[in-house]
Amino acid sequence: MTTKEEISRRRTFGIISHPDAGKTTLTEKLLLFGGAIQTAGAVKSNKITKSATSDFMEIERQRGISVATSVMAFDYNGYRVNLLDTPGHKDFAEDTYRTLTAVDSVILVIDCVKGVEMQTEKLMEVCRMRNTPVIVFINKMDRDGQDPFDLLDELESKLNIKVRPLSWPISMGKTFQGVYNLYSKNLHLFRPNKTAVEKDVIQISDLQDPLFDEYTGKYAEQCRKDVELIEGVYEPFNRQQYLDGTLAPVFFGSAVNNFGVKELLEAFLEIAPPPKEKESNARQIQPMEEKFSGFVFKIHANLDPRHRDRIAFIRICSGKLVRNNNFHHVRLGKKLKFNTPVNFMAQEKNVIEEAYAGDVVGLYDTGNFKIGDTLTEGEDFMFKGIPNFSPELFREVINKDPMKAKQLEKGLMQLTEEGVAQLFIQQPGNRKIIGTVGELQFEVIQHRLLHEYGATCDYHSMSLYKACWVSSTNQKELERFCNYKASSIARDKDDNIVFLADTRFTLNSIMEIYKDLNFSFISEHNSKSFQR
Ligand code: G4P
Repeated sequence: MTTKEEISRRRTFGIISHPDAGKTTLTEKLLLFGGAIQTAGAVKSNKITKSATSDFMEIERQRGISVATSVMAFDYNGYRVNLLDTPGHKDFAEDTYRTLTAVDSVILVIDCVKGVEMQTEKLMEVCRMRNTPVIVFINKMDRDGQDPFDLLDELESKLNIKVRPLSWPISMGKTFQGVYNLYSKNLHLFRPNKTAVEKDVIQISDLQDPLFDEYTGKYAEQCRKDVELIEGVYEPFNRQQYLDGTLAPVFFGSAVNNFGVKELLEAFLEIAPPPKEKESNARQIQPMEEKFSGFVFKIHANLDPRHRDRIAFIRICSGKLVRNNNFHHVRLGKKLKFNTPVNFMAQEKNVIEEAYAGDVVGLYDTGNFKIGDTLTEGEDFMFKGIPNFSPELFREVINKDPMKAKQLEKGLMQLTEEGVAQLFIQQPGNRKIIGTVGELQFEVIQHRLLHEYGATCDYHSMSLYKACWVSSTNQKELERFCNYKASSIARDKDDNIVFLADTRFTLNSIMEIYKDLNFSFISEHNSKSFQR
C-alpha cells in the first residue's frame, strides 16, 4: 500500500460521555468487532492490570477511575481505526480536552434514561469550538428511558447542534423491539445478549410491508407514525454538515447487549472523515504531505516504576514516521531519533517500523517533550490549537522540606509539563500556584512529588474564580494594568501574563476599565499569542 492509501484508510476518533453512560462498554464492543480483543471484560481488566503495576495508578485504582487515556487501533473492512479513549471523570477533563485535539471526529454516548448530562455539555463545547464532527449514540435502550423525540430536542437545545436520527427505536425498555435504520432502510431486531447481530437484520424498504407488522407487532403503527414525523421534521442527512460539525447523526442501541454497535461502526466508517489538515503557525499542514510532522498531546509518566520512563503520545499529522529516522524537535531546535516507537493494539504495545498520518504513536522520552511540542523532518513550524483552559481550583504550593527545594521545583516543572495541572508563578517570592480542574489532581501531585521526586508539599487554598490570560498590542496599558493589579498577576510556564481573578465581578469590572486588553480563559501550549 502506498503512503497515501495508508493515510486515507485511517479513521481516528474518540468516544466521549458523561461517566456511566456506557463509554467503556461501547469501546469494548467496538474492539470485539475489530478483533482487537477476544473477550468481553478485557478493557476493564486492562485498567486494573495497569494500576497494579504503578503507584500512581494505585491512586486511581482505589478510586475506581481510569485516568489513562489509552489508544486502541484495529482494522475493520479495510479501514485502520484508531480509537482514543478519554477519561470520563470530570477531574481529568483537561486530559480529555487535549485528547480531542488529536482526533478527527467523536462518538458521543448518551444514556437514554439520563439524557444530556453536565460532562456531556462541557465536552461538546470543546468539540463545537473545534468543529469536530460528532455522531451521537443513544445507549441503554433496553431500559425505560426518555421519549426519543424529547431526547433529540434536548440534544439540540443543550448541545447547540442540529441532529438527524439515522436509526429509530421501536419501543424501549422491556418491550424494546429493535431499531429501524432510516439510512439503509432495514429492521434490526433486538435480541438481548446476542453477539451475532447480523442475522437479525431484515431488509424492509417500505414500512407498510406486512412483514414489518409481523416482526414488531403492535409497535409497528407507532413506528410508522414516528418515521413519518421524522421525515417531515428533519431534513435529509447531509454529510457535509456533519463534516463541518454542525449536524450530528443519531443512532440508538444498547452497548451492553451488543445491539446497534456494528451498525454504528459501519455508519461511522462510511461517513467519518479521514485525517484532516491541521493549522500551524506557518501554514496549513496537509496529511498527504510527504514529510512527517506531528505533535505531542499527552505525556504519561512512570508507566513502568522500575524505569521511571515517560511516554509521549504523538498524533501524526502528515507523512509517515519511520523508526530510527532523524526528527526535528522544533521548540528545542534539536535532532532526535527514536528506536522504539510503539503503537497500541488494545492491551498490547508493539514496537513499529512506521506509522502514518492519523496514527498515534508512543515515543519513549527522557524529558525532551512537553505537551504541544511539534516534531517535523526539519521544517520550523508549531502546530496550533492545543489548548490550556483556565483551571477551576487553585492552591499555593508550600514546601514542607527546605532541603528538598530543588526536587520540588523539578517535580513541579515536570508534572505540569505532563499536563497533570497548570503552574503559575507569582512575584515577589516565586510563589507557586497550581491550578486544576478537579480535587483529585492535588492529591496526585502530592503523591507523585513524594514517590518520584522525594519532595513533600502542602497546599494553601486560594479562593479564585478563574485564571485569565491577558494580552494587548497596547504595551503601556498592559504595564499599567500589571502594576495596578500586581497582587493578582502571575506568569504561566511560557511566561505569559495571567490575571488571577477572584470573582467574576472583579473580572467584568476590569474588562470594562481596560478596554485595550484581551482577556482569555484559553491559551495555547507553547504560544505567546492568542485571541480573546
Ligand atoms: P462509562 O465508561 O461511560 O463510565 O460506562 P460503562 O461502560 O462502565 O457503563 C456503566 C454501566 O452501564 C455499567 O454497569 C454497564 O454495564 C452499563 N451499561 C452499558 N451499556 C448498557 C446498556 O446498553 N444497557 C444497560 N442496561 N446497561 C448498560 P455497571 O453495573 O456499572 O457495571 P458492570 O458491573 O455491568 O460492568
